[in-house]
Amino acid sequence: MAEKLKIGLFGFGCVGQGLYHVLNNSTGFKASLECIVVKDKTKKRPIASELISYNKWDVLDNGDISVVVELIDDAEEAFEIVSEAMRRGKHVVTANKKMLALHLNELYALQNKFKVSLLYEAAACGSIPIIRTLEEYFDNEDLKRVTGIFNGTTNFILTQTINERISYPDALLLSQEKGFAESDPTNDVEGYDPKYKAVILALHAFGKIIDEDKVLNLGITTLQDEDIQYASEKGYKIKLMPVIERLDDDKFSVFVAPRFISKNSQLYNVDSEFNGVIVEGKFSGEQFLQGRGAGSLPTGAAVLSDVSALSYGYRYEFKKYAQSQHVEFTNEVMVEIYLRYNNPADLEMFDFKEINQKYTEEKYSYVVGTINLNELRTKRKYILDNKLFISLVSNKLTLIVKTPVVEKGVVEEKSKILIQ
Ligand code: HSE
Repeated sequence: MAEKLKIGLFGFGCVGQGLYHVLNNSTGFKASLECIVVKDKTKKRPIASELISYNKWDVLDNGDISVVVELIDDAEEAFEIVSEAMRRGKHVVTANKKMLALHLNELYALQNKFKVSLLYEAAACGSIPIIRTLEEYFDNEDLKRVTGIFNGTTNFILTQTINERISYPDALLLSQEKGFAESDPTNDVEGYDPKYKAVILALHAFGKIIDEDKVLNLGITTLQDEDIQYASEKGYKIKLMPVIERLDDDKFSVFVAPRFISKNSQLYNVDSEFNGVIVEGKFSGEQFLQGRGAGSLPTGAAVLSDVSALSYGYRYEFKKYAQSQHVEFTNEVMVEIYLRYNNPADLEMFDFKEINQKYTEEKYSYVVGTINLNELRTKRKYILDNKLFISLVSNKLTLIVKTPVVEKGVVEEKSKILIQ
């Protein structure tokens, strides 16, 4: 018989309100919301005032509350709350992808030490059950890649600007009004949010905790009409896509960048705030999951699903991590990109291995060619400061293998490119 859970909630923003609604409108599942901790004393809220507290210890010190649901913005404050709750033997459900991506090591250790569950399905791709799919269904199959559209806000903005011809600032405003964007939308439009999600999924897909700082994230802030026109003349849509991909038996790469998507892709028609995830297994081939990636109710429903899973004692076993898979993260990968630039000096900044197309006119210049991902990572600031736009043009990734060779007593590293 499932235990009736008593919940302490932190945060009553978009997702908190979504959870409140789905909890009160779910017929099969019973849990009681004991206390909601919020910050702003001046805000009017459509809930009974006895439920509200401004003091986190009202939840953390309450021995009757066995579940903390953490839905606040600030990643470091969230980490303090979550780790304190776990130390006090409380289970935690969170949707805070930044907090998770930055603290996976510590959180994993806390879960083991205090024998509590930490669940976070709502932190990646909204209502799509991707974490449990990776953790439970693909627990033993080697995966080739996990990719797709992991951010609802940018997908909504790209759909509005490209399909509906609405201006970028208006589309961003609309996505904020609809509750899709983070409170600081830079996280969405510069690709941080999908990067944090990719770091989380990499743990469940490849069993590795990677340093988010090493993962390139390019966003859509520098997209211009010329780029949209280039893409649409070739029949492409532009999507912001994280890639988590195995390159050979022991190397994998993770990065986030815009990509041109053709009509053949399952992601082509994944528009607006919808997300789509492609999981490719060694034996099972491709699976495709689609659902609402952002918004109050879909994300609230994902939180509810985690709370419900707690009622039967579910916890992530981090199966691939526990298996200590022999696979290492690398940025030594060749990628094929479109680069729109302003002047020859911009182009000279980049060491292309090969240029397949080049177009130059006074107001619009671009190249299409292959370049090292690491090179893009080190030039990220230049790309943003100079408003260059980069999009992947194909999904071909080529691992650069460095083989040490001894020449005249000196060890040198020579690169060999393995074509996939
Ligand atoms: N800002 C996020 C997005 C919310 O747009 O996808 C859901 O994680």
